[in-house]
Amino acid sequence: MLTALSAALPALLTTALQQLATAPDHATPAPSPAPSDTAPRRLSTAPEPADVDEPTDSPEPAPVSDGAPEADCTTPTVAPEPDPTAPEPEPSAAPSAPLPGSKAARGALRATVARLLADNPGDTFTVTQAAKLVGNKSGGAVGNALEWLTAHGHAARVNDKPRTYSATPATAHAAATAHVSAPTVTAPAAPKPARTRAPKKAEHAAAPAPVAPATTAAPDPAASPVPAWDGRSPLPRPNGSTYHPRTLADTSDVAALRTLRAEGVPALLYGPPGTGKTSLVEAAFPDAITVCGDGDTQVSDLIGSYTQRPDGGYEFVYGPLVIAMQEGRVLFLDDATLIPPTVLAALYPGMDGRRQITVKEHKGETITAAEGFYVVAGHNPNVHGAILSDALSSRFSVQIEVSSDYDLARTLKIDASAVRVARNLATRKSKGEIGWAPQLRELLAFHKIQTILGKDAAWSNLLGIAPAEDRDTVATVLKAALGKDITHLALGKQL
Ligand SMILES: Nc1ncnc2c1ncn2[C@@H]1O[C@H](COP(=O)(O)OP(=O)(O)O)[C@@H](O)[C@H]1O
Ligand SMILES: [Mg+2]
Repeated sequence: MLTALSAALPALLTTALQQLATAPDHATPAPSPAPSDTAPRRLSTAPEPADVDEPTDSPEPAPVSDGAPEADCTTPTVAPEPDPTAPEPEPSAAPSAPLPGSKAARGALRATVARLLADNPGDTFTVTQAAKLVGNKSGGAVGNALEWLTAHGHAARVNDKPRTYSATPATAHAAATAHVSAPTVTAPAAPKPARTRAPKKAEHAAAPAPVAPATTAAPDPAASPVPAWDGRSPLPRPNGSTYHPRTLADTSDVAALRTLRAEGVPALLYGPPGTGKTSLVEAAFPDAITVCGDGDTQVSDLIGSYTQRPDGGYEFVYGPLVIAMQEGRVLFLDDATLIPPTVLAALYPGMDGRRQITVKEHKGETITAAEGFYVVAGHNPNVHGAILSDALSSRFSVQIEVSSDYDLARTLKIDASAVRVARNLATRKSKGEIGWAPQLRELLAFHKIQTILGKDAAWSNLLGIAPAEDRDTVATVLKAALGKDITHLALGKQL
């Protein structure tokens, strides 16, 4: 089977690329092969550079902006779908109320919840309070809507336990421009809590103004087609920055990942922090839901948990795994190897054969993955506590190394001598002389600091962020490159 996959993959990627270049990124999903049939396969994006010489500095052109600041993998985030407030297409027929639970109903619910927040600026709402105030909607659906709005900047999560939300400056705009439908879903019977994560008594929120029902359903943003793409041009990321595709398996990384998704072959991206793993996933899959793994990640962080309603009852709020399965979206498990193996085990039935999970905590409910559901994982091999277990490794049939593309750094107009120093250090790292080298993220930061505090401060900072054990080597390389001693960034004497 390994031989078959190895032989078939390049051709498969190429053919599927042609289809995917003009099609939505999960428009043509095929039945997924059982990952256990395929042994892990390691691929690599552009390799770490071996050369240390680069032409002498030339005057620096103005750098290309990298868009909005990068979010670190510290809190679960949902990669934004296309803007839900975009102008609605002309309806071809009279509008009708969306079917309960349909994509249109989800879009309408998001708009209704946004209006609740926008009408009550400064107030915070728990999921259950919001659910009640928008017409006794399902707490799970309202919880999902609030998470979605938060991920898109249309709401702010104020507290975690219990989760509370409030309006942001963007909420009013979202509520004002979205069309909402009259409520069509009634509250389900209150489930019995199987167990709770000790939600505290809900904080009182001022009674909001009534939510006005409107007449038409907003189109579901997730249903918007992905724009046609030629397979190699730069792509926008949800944070507004631009992703420059890289080569992978005779095609581009983005095209390859989209093909792997269509064929149901899970991929693991591994490499040091700051090399481009998250950017690639976001560029390839605008519908990705990201979970930032750590040692404290629990099953409930993937599947969901009960949350308390004001009446004292409990209801189940689905987690990112269930949402991704139900909506046929990508689940990006960043730093997956920091998550305890027993927790990751909850995910595997959704990736294997039947693509189903059983939510024991929620009356044994069975969730079946919709077309398009796909799991991609990120792994930093050198981060303390990261363990690529056999169970995890065997689920990710394709494993792709991601290292910094220093040529790309030059394309992004980062100072040539900084890139040269980074290349030199990367070469030393690959020989085992040191354990650290600046990656693309550090080079982008170098550029920013250079702009704000000046170039000398940027060099000093580069030395200062090097791990203590590598600092002498970094200082030596800096001296050779710049012809002067560099000291780490530090406060001086009283002015
Ligand atoms: N191919 C690329 N095109 C444009 N910018 C990139 C690319 N790869 C990485 N970057 C930039 O490098 C920085 C680090 O990338 P990121 O994806 O956050 O790394 P990682 O997830 O590996 O820690 C980000 O600012 C990102 O925008
Ligand atoms: Mg990342």
